[in-house]
Amino acid sequence: MPATIVVGTQWGDEGKGKLTDLIAKEMSLVVRYQGGHNAGHTIVVDGESFALQLLPSGVLYDHIVPVIGNGVVVDPVVLLAEIDSLEARGIDCSRLAVSGNAHLIFPYHQELDRLIERHLGKNKLGTTKRGIGPTYADKASRVGIRVQDLLDEKILREKLRAVLGEKNLILAKVYNRLGFDPDEMADRYLSEVAPRIAPYVSDTVSLVHEALEAGRNVLFEGAQATFLDLDHGTYPFVTSSNPIAGGACVGAGVGPRHIDRIVGIAKAYVTRVGSGPMPTELFDEVGDLLVDRGHEYGVNTKRRRRPGWFDAVMLRHAVRLNSLSELAITKLDILDVFPTVKVCVAYDINGTRHTHLPYHQSDLHAAVPVYEELPGWETDLSGARERGDLPAAARTYLEFLEEQVGVPITFVGTGPGRDQYVRRADAA
Ligand code: IMP
Repeated sequence: MPATIVVGTQWGDEGKGKLTDLIAKEMSLVVRYQGGHNAGHTIVVDGESFALQLLPSGVLYDHIVPVIGNGVVVDPVVLLAEIDSLEARGIDCSRLAVSGNAHLIFPYHQELDRLIERHLGKNKLGTTKRGIGPTYADKASRVGIRVQDLLDEKILREKLRAVLGEKNLILAKVYNRLGFDPDEMADRYLSEVAPRIAPYVSDTVSLVHEALEAGRNVLFEGAQATFLDLDHGTYPFVTSSNPIAGGACVGAGVGPRHIDRIVGIAKAYVTRVGSGPMPTELFDEVGDLLVDRGHEYGVNTKRRRRPGWFDAVMLRHAVRLNSLSELAITKLDILDVFPTVKVCVAYDINGTRHTHLPYHQSDLHAAVPVYEELPGWETDLSGARERGDLPAAARTYLEFLEEQVGVPITFVGTGPGRDQYVRRADAA
């Protein structure tokens, strides 16, 4: 399967890193196609845990070329710090390829992200405050600055002067803040950042196509997830890019015909960070237990994630939006202690039963989950390696999810360790 997309199907933090690690050995390229350092991927390789924000997980494997595609927004200072910290741990990052078309996050984007959130008050989005939204906004407004601009002093100075002319006015007049000096910023980026970024800047579109033409395996690694998608998520409580599978085509420069396999990752329950609707959210001790057992705190931001039962209505929609060919369920073991487990199979919206996501978002806010309650297994799953090792109630739970969602489950995570998973025997 030369071209595989791995995409989150809920609100992020589904544990994409584990599956990525499992299939990495078959891959030649791992490409990030959207988002920036708002992501937090934890990958355990050879017993060592790595928390990556911006670098594709492929960087951890000697045989893989890690690629940052054109759709990603790059804070070059963060990128260099991440490279330095990995290299200090003996990871060689020299194979990294960064698209010259990727847009750059500057300090004024981060400052604006913070100020906009503060200004929104109780209506804030709960962003990661990493400057992601303001950077994508500048890209769409055509005042963004790209990675390749770091390599052209004249262009970088001109663009910074033009964009800061406007941003400084906004900072001063709207937010009563000091602005940024464009020449000082250009000097700093040209002397400290550009020379170190230059060796990585590549024509990543050609790199991906050459790999695909040679029949080599390419993994497109989504960050965030389906319901944080700018177009299809719970707007405005979304990120500013397109994590859905289609985003891989745009953010890496490949046509849809090239994609062979699309794996959706879903937790056996759901979590969400930041604001926005979440029909199955739990505010009781069951929710606390999910957070506790699942260590549901942001990898980078440390925020407590909001917990809830598995939502099959949302998953059905994720199957459609991403054309999922299969599903990987992570963290099934977190449910080990519950006498019963619930799955939301429909929403009751003002007395009407909906099995598909309502088109109007006000309806989603009013949605009351209709649950099916299944027997729990109350058994430690940490040793399970094959479907047959799973207790009958856990198998029933998985079969129920497959039936509800309509795609096969080919991978089940049963613990944090690298080898703690059950893979369907006939899975590719
Ligand atoms: P932004 O991406 O920083 O603009 O944040 C927008 C929304 O996406 C907020 O609700 C964040 O909590 C959420 N978000 C961004 N990145 C992640 C992630 O990697 N995991 C989970 N939620 C995320």
